[in-house]
Amino acid sequence: MFPPLALLLSYAVTVSAAVHTWPSPKLDALEAQRWDQDDTINGFSSFVQPCTFFIRGNDDGSETGRANGPDWIRTAYHDMATHNSEDGTGGLDASIRFAEEQSRPENAGTGFQNTLDVFVAFTTRHVSLADLIAIGLVTAVENCGGPQIYFRGGRIDAAEPNAPGVPEPQGDLNAHIASFKKQGFTQTEMIGLVACGHSFGGVEHKPFPEIVPELNDPNNTLSVQHFDTTFDFFDNKVATEYIAGTSQNPLLVGANDTTNSDKRIFASDGNKTMASFADSSELFASTCASLFSRMLDTVPKDVELSDVIDPLPVKPSEVQIVLGTNGKLQLSGVVRLFNVTVDDPQRTVQLLIDSHSGETTTTTLALDRFSSAMGGRVQSPFYAFNQSQDADGNQVGVIELDPAKGIEKMRFNINGKVEDQGGVGFKVEDGVVFSETSCITTVGATEDDDPVAGRFDIAVRTGLNPTRVFLEQEVKDSINRTVVKETSVEKPAQPGSAGDGAYEIWSIQVNDANTYTIGAEIDGGKFSTIDTHSLKELTACAPTKRRVWHKRRPGA
Ligand SMILES: *[C@@H]1O[C@H](CO)[C@@H](O)[C@H](O)[C@H]1NC(C)=O
Ligand SMILES: *[C@@H]1O[C@H](CO)[C@@H](O)[C@H](O)[C@H]1NC(C)=O
Ligand SMILES: *[C@@H]1O[C@H](CO)[C@@H](O)[C@H](O)[C@H]1NC(C)=O
Ligand SMILES: *[C@@H]1O[C@H](CO)[C@@H](O)[C@H](O)[C@H]1NC(C)=O
Ligand SMILES: *[C@@H]1O[C@H](CO)[C@@H](O)[C@H](O)[C@H]1NC(C)=O
Ligand SMILES: *[C@@H]1O[C@H](CO)[C@@H](O)[C@H](O)[C@H]1NC(C)=O
Repeated sequence: MFPPLALLLSYAVTVSAAVHTWPSPKLDALEAQRWDQDDTINGFSSFVQPCTFFIRGNDDGSETGRANGPDWIRTAYHDMATHNSEDGTGGLDASIRFAEEQSRPENAGTGFQNTLDVFVAFTTRHVSLADLIAIGLVTAVENCGGPQIYFRGGRIDAAEPNAPGVPEPQGDLNAHIASFKKQGFTQTEMIGLVACGHSFGGVEHKPFPEIVPELNDPNNTLSVQHFDTTFDFFDNKVATEYIAGTSQNPLLVGANDTTNSDKRIFASDGNKTMASFADSSELFASTCASLFSRMLDTVPKDVELSDVIDPLPVKPSEVQIVLGTNGKLQLSGVVRLFNVTVDDPQRTVQLLIDSHSGETTTTTLALDRFSSAMGGRVQSPFYAFNQSQDADGNQVGVIELDPAKGIEKMRFNINGKVEDQGGVGFKVEDGVVFSETSCITTVGATEDDDPVAGRFDIAVRTGLNPTRVFLEQEVKDSINRTVVKETSVEKPAQPGSAGDGAYEIWSIQVNDANTYTIGAEIDGGKFSTIDTHSLKELTACAPTKRRVWHKRRPGA
C-alpha cells in the first residue's frame, strides 16, 4: 500500500546536498542552527563543551557519570524509534515531549526531559522541536569527535504521542530484529546503530536498578555504567573493547543475561560487523554518519524533508532595515564567510548596496565575531555592516540609506571577487519596515511595570500597495508548537508621510509589551522582518524622542 520506506531511506545519504538561495527564512534559520553551533546568536554547542558537561551536574564539580551529549543522542533515537515503516506513522517528530510517552517503561530515565528543557528555548516558527532534536544529535556527535552528519530540515512536531516502539534490554534477539525492521533497519544496520549510539553514554542505576548496581564511585555519583571507556566521546572503543573482551558495557556483561541485549545484538552475525568496526575507526565513523543521518530522516510519511542543508559560503544574517526618526533607512546586519581563516588580515570584505534606481554604494566591513561548528573544526568569521556596538554588545551601528533610493539587493566583494549568488544578488525587502517614530502612550503604574499602551508605526514604501500588512507574534499552541499570530494593520485613509515622501506611515495601537515582527503580503509573496519590537524598547510619544535600538534576535 505504501512505498517501502526502508528502501527509500537507503537512498537518503546519496542524494546530493544543495546550497539554497538566500533569503529563505526557514532554510536560513535551519542552516544557522546546524552550522553556527557555537555562536552567541544561534548555537547550543555550549551545552556539549566540554563533552562531559551535564546540566544537572553536581555543585561541587564532581562527575555524575552523565553528560548532555549521550542524553541528546538517546533522545533522538527514542523519539525516532516509534516509527512504523509499514504504515508510515511515527518517527522523529518530538512526540517524546508528551508526558505519556516519557512515562512508558521503554523511555525510563530523566534524559529526555533534560534534553527538551534545553531545546525548547530554541524553537521558532522555522525550527521545530523535532528539527532541534535532530540538530542536537548532529551537534553532540560532531562536537565530541564524531564524523559530519548530513542534516535535512522540515520535521513537524507531532500532535499526539506515537505508539510505543523502543526496544528494551530484556527483549530477545528476534524481538530486537523485528523492532529495528519496523523502524526501517536491517539486522546489520541494527548492529551498527546500536554500536554507534553506544559509543556514548551508559546505563544509570536509578531507572535500571536491576541492570546496574550502586557503583559507590565519587567520580560517578549517579552510578552510570558506561558502554565504553570514553562515554562522552565518539570513537570505535565500543567495538575494540568488545572484540578484545575487555568491555564493561552493562548490556554485555550484566549479571543477568536476560538484559544483555548488546551481547545478543553484537554477536548476531558472528561478530562480523563489530570486528569490522574494531578493525577500522574510519569504517565505524562513516557507517555511523550514514546510519545516524538515516535515523534522523526517519519521519512520519506525510513529512517532507528538505535537501541536505549545506552551508552557504557567503551568508548575510540578522539583516534588518528600519526607518529612523531622522527619516533615513537604517540597514544593519552581518555577513558570514563559512569555514575560512577567522582573522585573515589580508582579506577585504565589502558590501555593495544596489538601490532601486540602480546605483551602487560600497562599504568596507570589519570583523565582528565568529561561529564554529564540529568542535572547532569549522570556523566562520562574521563581518558587520557597521561594527559599532553599545556596552551590552548590541549592534548599534547602521548604514544610513537615502529612502528615495532604497535598497534592492546586496552583493559582496571578497578579496576582489564579487559574490552575488550567481547573479541574482542577495535580495532585501525595504517595502515594509518598522519606523522608529513608534512610541509609548501609557506607561505602567510603577517604574518596573511594562508599558501598557503605545503605537507601532510601520513605514510602507509609497506606491507599493501591499495586499496586507500585519504584526506577527510567535506563540505556542496548546501542544507547544510555535505558531504565528497575525494582527492586521489597516491602511489609514490619510497615511502620514515619512522619508521625504518615500514612505507612508501606517499605525496600529498596541496594548501589551509582547515582542512583534512585521509581516506583509506583497505580490503574492509573504515577507517578515527579522527585527523584533516591543513597547518595552520604546520611549514616550511626546514631546522628545530618544533613539532606541532593537535587540538581535535568534534564527536569522
Ligand atoms: C508545554 O509546555 C509547558 C510549559 O513549559 C509544559 O508544562 C508542558 O508539559 C508542555 N507540553 C508538551 C506536550 O510539551
Ligand atoms: C576520581 O577522579 C580523580 C581525578 O581524575 C582521581 O584522581 C581519583 O583517583 C578518582 N577517584 C576514584 C575513587 O576513582
Ligand atoms: C533477569 O531479568 C529479567 C527481566 O528483567 C527478570 O524477569 C528476571 O527475574 C531476572 N533474573 C534474575 C535472576 O534476577
Ligand atoms: C563474539 O565476540 C565476543 C567478545 O569477544 C565473544 O565472547 C564471542 O564468543 C564471539 N562470538 C562469536 C560467534 O564469535
Ligand atoms: C572546512 O575547511 C577545511 C579546510 O579547508 C576542510 O578540510 C573541511 O572539509 C571544511 N569543512 C566543511 C564542513 O566544509
Ligand atoms: C556606524 O555607526 C555609528 C554609530 O551609529 C555611526 O556613528 C557611523 O557613522 C556609522 N558608520 C557608517 C559607515 O555608516
